[in-house]
Amino acid sequence: MKVLITGANGMLGTSVKKVFNNHDLIVTGSIELDVRNIKQVTSYASRKIDLILHLAAETDHFKAEFNPTDAYLTNHTGTQNMVELAKILDIPIVYIGTAGIFNGKKKIYSENDTADPINHYGRSKYYGEVAVKTYPKHYIIRSGWAMGGGPLVDKKFVNKIYKQIKLDAKKIYGISDVYGNPTYTMDFAKTLKNIVEKKPSFGTYNCPGKGEASRFEVLKEFVSILGLSKKIELIPVTYNEYFKLFPLQCPHTRSEVLSDKKLTKTGLSEMRDWHLALSEYAKEFKI
Ligand SMILES: NC(=O)c1ccc[n+]([C@@H]2O[C@H](COP(=O)([O-])OP(=O)(O)OC[C@H]3O[C@@H](n4cnc5c(N)ncnc54)[C@H](OP(=O)(O)O)[C@@H]3O)[C@@H](O)[C@H]2O)c1
Repeated sequence: MKVLITGANGMLGTSVKKVFNNHDLIVTGSIELDVRNIKQVTSYASRKIDLILHLAAETDHFKAEFNPTDAYLTNHTGTQNMVELAKILDIPIVYIGTAGIFNGKKKIYSENDTADPINHYGRSKYYGEVAVKTYPKHYIIRSGWAMGGGPLVDKKFVNKIYKQIKLDAKKIYGISDVYGNPTYTMDFAKTLKNIVEKKPSFGTYNCPGKGEASRFEVLKEFVSILGLSKKIELIPVTYNEYFKLFPLQCPHTRSEVLSDKKLTKTGLSEMRDWHLALSEYAKEFKI
């Protein structure tokens, strides 16, 4: 297939480029294809494309909270623009969703649960889902807490820990009462490939890594894998304590745990236990 990828330089895009090596890829970052720019987006309608993997998004929760206009432009309008391109070409589009569209009051979320985002990132990603759902030929594949891309690309929790280690931190804090599914982007990309090749019914599929964890548990596991448990003091703190220590944060949901029952039934999942996935991913981080 000829596959157009947006946001290909990011954490997930780095894995997708490796995994989709049997397909003909049109790889774009925000320079080659700014999803906010409808003229630039629709200029791709003259190309022969069989599938759109729309990975591009403003993923920085902090930036989204303090500059929401930008986040809505990228995550909502940008997604609407990509849907428009899919409609013109009459091809399927894949959108990457997040558990951040829920309010976190339930322990675990299925595909049918009602969205109720509590921050601008979550709301802008939810509006992205709404835009995608106006077009029947869509897959919304929801990821858990992403781990991937390596130290130069990873913007999320694992690399934030690694950066503190590289700065010779003697103690590192981790929130112990916020839960999610650590999700390795390589496993996610393999599952994504199975989905677009084997074509289960269009619609929404949760695709979390197997097993849930608190941020603190991920911190503890990563530091242990790196063999640094005796050198660094790890301090569990509650969500409320963390906000007192580091006030300039964006509100976060308490549970971002996703149910993977629907995906498992398709037999297409390549998702592994997060401990195993993290131990593989950790090989990219040198001490
Ligand atoms: N990271 C997570 O924990 C997580 C969890 C759930 C869902 N997701 C979703 O997964 C998808 C992939 O995210 P990721 O983890 O790979 O994030 P990422 O590393 O931040 O990558 C996102 C990419 O989007 C691109 N981008 C930003 N604004 C753009 C624009 N206006 N036009 C075109 N490209 C633009 C950036 O490209 P340039 O570098 O070229 O500027 C960036 O490389 C996103 O839809 C995200 O919402 C992520």
